[in-house]
This record gives sequence, C-alpha cells and structure tokens, in this order.
Amino acid sequence: MENRKYDFDSVIDRRGTSSVMFDMCQEMFGRDDVLPLWVADMGFAVCPEITQALAERVTQHPIYGYSVPLEGYWQSIIDWQRERNGLEFSQDEACFIGGIVNGFGLALNHFTRPGDKVIIQEPVYHPFRMLITGNNRMVVNNALKRTDDGFYEMDLEGLERIMEQERPRMMVLCNPHNPIGIAWPAEVQREVAALARKYDVVVFSDEIHGDLTLKGHHHTSFLTVSDDARAVGVVMGAPSKTFNIAGIVSSWCVVKNPELRKPFFNWLTTNGQSAPNFLSMTATRAAYRHGGEWLTQCLEYIEDNIDMVVDYCREHIPGITAIKPQASFLVWLDCTGLGLEHDALIDLFVNKARIGLNDGAMFGKGGSGFMRLNVAVPRSVLRQGMEQLAAAVAALK
Ligand SMILES: Cc1ncc(COP(=O)(O)O)c(C=O)c1O
Repeated sequence: MENRKYDFDSVIDRRGTSSVMFDMCQEMFGRDDVLPLWVADMGFAVCPEITQALAERVTQHPIYGYSVPLEGYWQSIIDWQRERNGLEFSQDEACFIGGIVNGFGLALNHFTRPGDKVIIQEPVYHPFRMLITGNNRMVVNNALKRTDDGFYEMDLEGLERIMEQERPRMMVLCNPHNPIGIAWPAEVQREVAALARKYDVVVFSDEIHGDLTLKGHHHTSFLTVSDDARAVGVVMGAPSKTFNIAGIVSSWCVVKNPELRKPFFNWLTTNGQSAPNFLSMTATRAAYRHGGEWLTQCLEYIEDNIDMVVDYCREHIPGITAIKPQASFLVWLDCTGLGLEHDALIDLFVNKARIGLNDGAMFGKGGSGFMRLNVAVPRSVLRQGMEQLAAAVAALK
C-alpha cells in the first residue's frame, strides 16, 4: 500500500532486548540460529503516540510513585470497546487485570475449587490447560471439530453432554480462538451462554485477540450476545496484542452480573490485584485514544502477509496448507499432508528449515501435525521464512 502512513516493513533487531521471541530460541528450539516466528507479539514498532506518551511521562516527571487511575484511562477503554466492538459497560463493571494469563488464574481460583472441572476446547492456547491442572482442577476437553471445508467449528452437542454429565464449574471460551483464529459467531456464543446458564457454569471469555479481526469478520464480545451471557460471563481483554504492548502488561476485566462481579472484584482488590501501574495506564490510554489508524493499517499489512502465506504454500509447498484465520496474526499450518511423524516434522522446521514456529501439539488434542506461524513480521522476514521452509520440504524427497 503506497500511501501507508506507518512503517511495517523495517526489520527491527530485537535480540538482546529480553524478548521471549528472540532471546529464548536456544531454550525453545535447542538452537539459536532459527528465524523466530512463534510467540504472539509483533515485529513492528508500536504506534508512535504510545512511544511519545511513555517518553513524556518517564522523562518529564521523574518521580514514579504510587498512582491513582490516570484521567481518561477508563474512559479510553470504555469508548474503544463501545465504538469498535459494541461492548457497553460502566467503570463500575470493569477492573484492571495484570495480564490475561494472570487474570485467568485469578478467576479460576476465585470461581472454582480444587477438583472442579473446567472446559477447554482444544486445540487451544496451551496455558489454559496448564493453569487448570497446575491449580489442581480438572480439564474437560470439548475438542473443536474440523469442517468439510477444512476450517473448524464448536461441538455444541459435545458441550451440552459434558455440561450435563461432568458438571463443570467453568468454561473457557477463547474468543477469538487461538490458534486457528476463529471469530466465534454470535449465534454459537448464544448457545454456549444458554447451556452455561442452564448448567450453572461460569464462562471465562478471553477476548485478547478481539480487536484483530480480518476483512469480512467482526468480533462479538460474549457479553453482547444475550442475557444468559451477561448472567454467566467473565470477560477479559487487553490492548496488548492489538497494539504490540504485551510487555507493558495491561488488561481489563468486565463482569455484568453483580452476583459474580462484586465478590470477585472485592477479592481482587483485597489481594492487591486491581491497581494498574502508571506506565500501563499511559500506554493504554494513548493506544485506545490515538491508535485506531495504526491498527487499521497494521491489520491490512497482516492480511496481505496471511494471503502471501496461503498462496505461497499452495504454489510452492506441497503437503502444507495454510488455514486462513478470521482473526489475529497467527496462521495454523496443516502439515499433515507431509506424512511426517511428530519428531520428523519438528526436525524439518527447526533443523532443516531453521524457522522457529509453535509446535501444534502444544495446543493439545488435534494439534499434532500442525504448526502455528506468527505473520506479524515485516514481509521480507516472512518471505525468507517461507523460502527456507519450501527448500527444506523440497529436500525431503
Ligand atoms: C488467547 C490468549 N490469551 C492470553 C494470552 C496472553 O495474555 P497476557 O500476556 O495478557 O497474559 C495470549 C497470548 O498469546 C493469548 O493468545
């Protein structure tokens, strides 16, 4: 796009910046010389207004003491969600959360007891399983179903069976769903909500990828779908994926039902969990106030990258199909056509192609034979990665 205002093409060297993506390759892949295309943050400079706001705060006020909520901080979150996603809430219905994984752990500990069952839908973002088992709760998996056209859908019959027979206390709705990038339709979420209400299940809707829907799709917040959803829903979202500020740690939680909200928010406050720090408030307010155009252009760039990967696989990499996401910058690569065992597939990517992706198996049942590719990188980097992969696949013969 010639008249793009923001630069997504420049390659920024992130090594040595305590970046998980770059500085953990040895630990993750057993070697340091892979092109990293894994962890879900972006290789793009953030929107300049965020940098400017942080720089001003840090340099012009050299006292970093205890903070109260920054003027306009909550309003920026409320306005963004209303305008972008049609999610309306008041400040009383929301609280700060220091990261969504942390927030899920807190919700899990508050709403369930050891031994309780919690539903996830694999393949799904792996920390859900880790937190559930790590907190001595039990995972019940309502696996996603593959559709005839190669995409995925929710198994609503399976969900009802599980709710009726297993009596879980909580369900995780990854909304949009990572990996795969499913933007769950309102009618599916409405069914989930009705079932959850019937069987008394709290629904934790993780909407961290909600601002990243691609052309032809839109994000439906769980809290917008029905009264049932508002009765059972605990929603968490963040500007972190949207604006590439995950390292700053800023998220929010909205609960509509006061019977769920009041005890939960009181418990968070009692435990010192609900106060944002001044840097996260500064970055969040700048992002939500000024980042709209940056995000629009970023998503266009990402969508072009996704199309490039889909076409490249189709034309040059027999055996690998890139499944186009409806949301987010993560592409689910179906590598089953290569006919490789799990270890051989990992060896192909890491040791032969020298590219570092997430092993699909880490996302649980249904993930083996797949890899998750992060395309939120400059196009030249992505192209290089695809070329290395194509050469490695060609050399298999
Ligand atoms: C679905 C989902 N939830 C949560 C997170 C992490 O959120 P946080 O960094 O706020 O803990 C990620 C990061 O990839 C994610 O994909």
